[in-house]
Amino acid sequence: MSVPSAPPSESSEGAGKPGDTPTAEAHLKRVRTRHFQSAKENGIKIVGLTSYDQLTAGIFDEAGIDFLLVGDSAGNNVYGYDTTLPVSIDDLIPLTRAVAGAVKRAFVIADMPFGSYETGPDEALHTAFRFMKETGAHAVKLEGGVRSAEQIRRIVSAGIPVMAHIGFTPQSEHGLGGHVIQGRGEQLKQLLADAHAVEDAGAFAVVLEMVPKGAAGTVTKELRIPTIGVGAGPDVDGQLLVWTDWAGFTKGRIPKFVKQYANLRSTLTKAVTSFRSDVSEGLYPGPEHSYDD
Ligand code: KIV
Repeated sequence: MSVPSAPPSESSEGAGKPGDTPTAEAHLKRVRTRHFQSAKENGIKIVGLTSYDQLTAGIFDEAGIDFLLVGDSAGNNVYGYDTTLPVSIDDLIPLTRAVAGAVKRAFVIADMPFGSYETGPDEALHTAFRFMKETGAHAVKLEGGVRSAEQIRRIVSAGIPVMAHIGFTPQSEHGLGGHVIQGRGEQLKQLLADAHAVEDAGAFAVVLEMVPKGAAGTVTKELRIPTIGVGAGPDVDGQLLVWTDWAGFTKGRIPKFVKQYANLRSTLTKAVTSFRSDVSEGLYPGPEHSYDD
């Protein structure tokens, strides 16, 4: 969103001005929840990515990505699970700490995994406390609309910002019958009810995942808080993608909504194949890579 890039003369809490170069690092001030809100009010798009480690977090932060989600998609991308369901709080804490420690400007959001908040507001708050105290994240995210509203309300009342997540919610993939688009036709009513429930509960933003573009546009118009689309078309306030998908790291099927910006799998495969054959053929290390006696 390039929103909070305050000129050097302003305090670190300054409102900033839209349009600053994202890489003008000296000018960058931490993105806050109020910047999400002002971005929506000023029609400035918010840009987010997932990250699970300090290397990518540092690169994405320097490139001006506004927020980084340490998603439970780490289940697929780090831990090699088929779904996000087995991911635990203890799996995500070290990854979130690495990401939060690597950024200067981006707003870091910790994803609350399946089984860490559903039993009620007390459990949800306890989980949110763990993420905030043990990782340095700036907010938490959890899935569910009406069904998670009380959990959101309790976490927000403790001073912790919450990003909500509705539409297709991967933690419920078995209940939803697989990766199915949400909010079509009659389902729009439920989508709107979920969106209003999380806004009323105090969420500062809401992710809309795999929602038809018209439905996402309707939700975006009705809500005061920003909507962040993951496969929700252009008429939302911001976009979020799982970084391994657009960077061409993911093996197998990539969702239709992902644009391919790189092919890192092929680049890395070529590089590691060259390394292997250089070593086998005695070409590495050469004299330039060896210390003199
Ligand atoms: O875990 C994740 O990466 C997510 C996004 C897909 C929204 O929840």
